[in-house]
Amino acid sequence: MKPKIFVTRKLPEETMKLLKEHCDVKIWEQEDLPVPREVLIEEIQEIDGLYCLLTEAIDKEVIDRAKKLKVISNMAVGYNNIDIESATKQGIAVTNTPGVLTETTADLTFSLLMSVARRIVDADCFLRNGNWKTWSPMLLTGQDIHGATLGIIGLGRIGEALAKRAQGFNMKILYHNRTRKYAVEERLNIHYVELEALLRESDFVCILTPYTEETKNLIDEEELSLMKESAILINSSRGGIVNEEALYKALLDQKIWGAGLDVFEEEPVSLESPLLSLPNVVVTPHIGSASIQTRHLMAQLAAENLIGVLNGKSSNHIVNE
Ligand code: DGY
Repeated sequence: MKPKIFVTRKLPEETMKLLKEHCDVKIWEQEDLPVPREVLIEEIQEIDGLYCLLTEAIDKEVIDRAKKLKVISNMAVGYNNIDIESATKQGIAVTNTPGVLTETTADLTFSLLMSVARRIVDADCFLRNGNWKTWSPMLLTGQDIHGATLGIIGLGRIGEALAKRAQGFNMKILYHNRTRKYAVEERLNIHYVELEALLRESDFVCILTPYTEETKNLIDEEELSLMKESAILINSSRGGIVNEEALYKALLDQKIWGAGLDVFEEEPVSLESPLLSLPNVVVTPHIGSASIQTRHLMAQLAAENLIGVLNGKSSNHIVNE
């Protein structure tokens, strides 16, 4: 008998085909929205594997309902939506999808950086709204990217990929990370600094660290006050790492120049969020890894992880081994 699995969202056809070859699949596909919690709690009781997205809170209450669950496969590299401790206690493997989204997420991070610095969205609205009367010396002027200093907070795979892009723009690159990475420093000609120095010296601060208890509100009022008035903050990691209220104030009071945000404390972010009222903020709806190719790769890798664990194979992508 094939193992029973529950898939929380409609996936690409080839991924569904692969899952169905190996598993007895039930899928939440009534609408392209997160599965209701009560449905998840019901379904988890009878399944061997759960294929989920970062939109599902797989917390203790959910995990405790599982009777024979062996694996939770998250279609994301981040897994802060899952209570790892509870899963581990129950002997449930949790897997993620690192590697395949690295370059695409670095592309989006750099795009946000460029969009804010050169006011692309602002300029687009300006033109469409009929405000373009003439070429003018200081019209829609932004910040230079080439030759500027980039500060990367969290030097994982995506941080490294971002540094490579920045090299092409002749940027000076600083980083701050839990552990120092001497080999990467040498290979990419980047410099380790303490967080405070990074914030003081960078023209662009990019957040690429995972969301944990330690990184929650890592960038708060005090940290923002250290940044240059001309500096731009980019967050394409997880929302809770930046205190949004403090960020709003810093932007409003022109303590920093602009921000690019792909992630928010609450997702989807409320249209009432004061951040959305500011012209010096470019926002995107958590699309860091959203290229067609990468989303196919992520979907497939998450399926392979799930099938691998159910077949008793060891996987490189178990995060709680
Ligand atoms: C992840 O994988 O964690 C991203 O946030 C979505 O690709």
